[in-house]
Amino acid sequence: MKKYNIAIVGATGLVGQTFLQVLEERKFPIKNLYLMASSRSAGKKINFMGKDIVVEELNESSFDKDIDIALFSAGGDTSKKFSPIAASKGVIVVDNSSAFRMDDEVPLIVPEVNPGAVFNHKGIIANPNCSTIQSVVPLRVLDEKYKIKRIVYSTYQAVSGSGLAGIKDLENGLAGKPVENYPYQIAGNCLPHIDVFLENGNTKEEQKMIDETKKILRADVKVTATCVRVPVLHSHSVSMNIEFEKEFDVEEVKKDLASVKGLIVEDDVKNNIYPMAINSKGKDEVFVGRIRRDQSLDNGLNLWVVADNIRKGAATNTIQIAELLIAEDKGRKLWK
Ligand code: A2P
Repeated sequence: MKKYNIAIVGATGLVGQTFLQVLEERKFPIKNLYLMASSRSAGKKINFMGKDIVVEELNESSFDKDIDIALFSAGGDTSKKFSPIAASKGVIVVDNSSAFRMDDEVPLIVPEVNPGAVFNHKGIIANPNCSTIQSVVPLRVLDEKYKIKRIVYSTYQAVSGSGLAGIKDLENGLAGKPVENYPYQIAGNCLPHIDVFLENGNTKEEQKMIDETKKILRADVKVTATCVRVPVLHSHSVSMNIEFEKEFDVEEVKKDLASVKGLIVEDDVKNNIYPMAINSKGKDEVFVGRIRRDQSLDNGLNLWVVADNIRKGAATNTIQIAELLIAEDKGRKLWK
């Protein structure tokens, strides 16, 4: 089997560390692995499959080496600066930041939903926002059968979505210490404030869910969102209210959802079975339950969707995108 040279940018971060775990678990065919982070981490050793790898400081010449794919998760500014440099040297970047997601020349990919779009890249492919990824996984099949008119998202997002700083703020808060990352205490609280506020009153996180859902699913779907940070360490939960153009049968919808690869239906309320953050931690699938008709609309449906935001919402989805690329490689150089 052909093996590839892979770089991880942001290797010391929460998502970067999970990239390493997921690459190992999925037996990604790696020839050489390069780990990159800021000058703060340069020289640090990280173990991967029994071998210590020295972390390099990311700089303009980092991609002069023979690298096939670079997985980026080091924040938007780092991606903006270094992804084009990497792409100009023939590396395919799969970027976990929001820097390029809405760029027309950058495919925004969830492998269960729009895998075919991956090859329309010019060196950079974007991984969607964590809440968007888990939300669109159940939506594609429903849109194809019943045509979605409008989606109302309400999210309950874990602190790990803010990286190690978010986890620290929750842990510190539980110990009675002040926050450093969030504007207010997160322990024992819910913050209807994720990322910055925009002119239109939405937060940037809410706008990401709206724009990215349309880009992945269909531009004319109407979408609104309220995103809330909750004192949960791992896994985001999303309440989804969907209005369809066509009529549907709830039992049929359950079968439709059960047919989606990577989606697990957990819906047996008589036995208190529904998706929960504590159960999806560490898993790569998206979980859906509380599947029920919204009696206030003609063709309305409610869903409760849960996934591990660091795995399916970030690292796993990014690596699944890389898997799509190498599956089609068939021995050619990946690009350029
Ligand atoms: P470092 O650990 O050296 O600061 P998280 O979001 O979990 O905090 O992780 C952020 C990741 O992005 C870390 O690996 C961090 O490296 C990396 N990073 C942040 N800023 C830069 C930068 N300017 N150049 C390279 N890597 C960066």
